[in-house]
Amino acid sequence: MKLTILGGGGFRVPLVYGALLNDRAEGRVTEVVLQDLDDRRLYAVTRVLAEQAAGVPDAPTVTATTDLDEALHGADFVFSTIRVGGLAGRADDERVALEQGVLGQETVGAGGIAYGLRTVPVAVDIARRVARLAPDAWVINFTNPAGLVTEAMSRHLGDRVIGICDSPVGLGRRIARVLGADPGEAFVDYVGLNHLGWVRGLRVAGRDELPRLLADPALLGSFEEGRLFGTDWLQSLGAIPNEYLHYYYFNREAVRAYQEAEKTRGAFLREQQARFYEEACRTGVRALDVWDRTRAEREATYMAENRETAGAGEREADDLSGGYEKVALALMRAIARDERTTLILNVRNRGTLAALDADAVVEVPCLVDANGAHPFAVDPLPGHASGLVGAVKAVEREVLSAAGSGSRATAVKAFALHPLVDSVNVARRLVESYTSVHPGLAYLT
Ligand code: G6P
Ligand code: MN
Repeated sequence: MKLTILGGGGFRVPLVYGALLNDRAEGRVTEVVLQDLDDRRLYAVTRVLAEQAAGVPDAPTVTATTDLDEALHGADFVFSTIRVGGLAGRADDERVALEQGVLGQETVGAGGIAYGLRTVPVAVDIARRVARLAPDAWVINFTNPAGLVTEAMSRHLGDRVIGICDSPVGLGRRIARVLGADPGEAFVDYVGLNHLGWVRGLRVAGRDELPRLLADPALLGSFEEGRLFGTDWLQSLGAIPNEYLHYYYFNREAVRAYQEAEKTRGAFLREQQARFYEEACRTGVRALDVWDRTRAEREATYMAENRETAGAGEREADDLSGGYEKVALALMRAIARDERTTLILNVRNRGTLAALDADAVVEVPCLVDANGAHPFAVDPLPGHASGLVGAVKAVEREVLSAAGSGSRATAVKAFALHPLVDSVNVARRLVESYTSVHPGLAYLT
């Protein structure tokens, strides 16, 4: 079984490889191909993986290449986890938006639109190549903005591309934990778009346990989302939002905190990661130790400013491992071995959410087996959530349209229609600034 990882020099690749090393079952991945544009990153990550594999019998083989087509040939699974423009691009996405007084964040709001505009053309090129060179492969897309990018790829790959995120699974796990339920036994009724969803119920043996949590302020205040959003607001909503909804519900505070921060998240990571790759390439250094240390720091500082504005304190130890590699592995196993399982995934809507058309990629619980991911029927979203999902999906469609046509006016429309961009003039200035800093947006004319 051959797994190709695009963006194979990426920092989170050792998480995936670690999960593969723990998989001893029949039909597991035996061959990993890392593809990346950057040789040095490949070298550093390959060293980390070799150290992880030391002493593990039958560890999956690892090869590295910068050649995309070569990497795709014969792949059974393709993980796409690229970052177009790198962390420097992310830092610029964030900075430009904050200069205009709107949210500057990797995937949400103006920053996410800029990132999407840069990434969609590259993701579409990858999708076309996969369709040609590895038509039977399943593509698991981690590349952000994951919902939008998955939808772009699905236009070429249909249901053979599935988008994943660790955020809903982490949320479901935290809710199960405070309720004293086994996460493996719980059905998490989570619905929305990527980074824009709500848990409306958590069923164990057919019984919804969420009302018990919502009725108990002490319990509600005892986990990450309770502290981030405040118990009153969660009780008003009657649902537990994905942490990324903090950027919507507390937008003003988040924008101010990000503007006042010494560095944006992207700028911090750009420097942190540069140090990691530099150190991990040095001779005589244990690359795995450097990686571990760097990862611990990255995890501990995740959404730090949001937590600070909310007075939410530090992250809990249990929350520090995102777990996206577990979602990826579970998904791959379910497909490859027909091991039926339920996962929250980014797939085409079909009729799941009545407010959206069939091809819109949504993030919902799915039954996964050898035939792929099949979304469960879900209750409709309440008006406020449905409205927000509809507005953001409309923005995503403008991004896809601009990426397809190269129309600058359509790009302006995408920014202007986003609920977190408060003026058409701001949208115009955003397009001005983004096109001047990002070479990857030169196609917008
Ligand atoms: C979560 C999200 C990812 C996102 C990441 C950012 O895991 O689900 O989609 O990329 O956070 O973390 P970072 O350390 O890069 O700020
Ligand atoms: Mn995510």
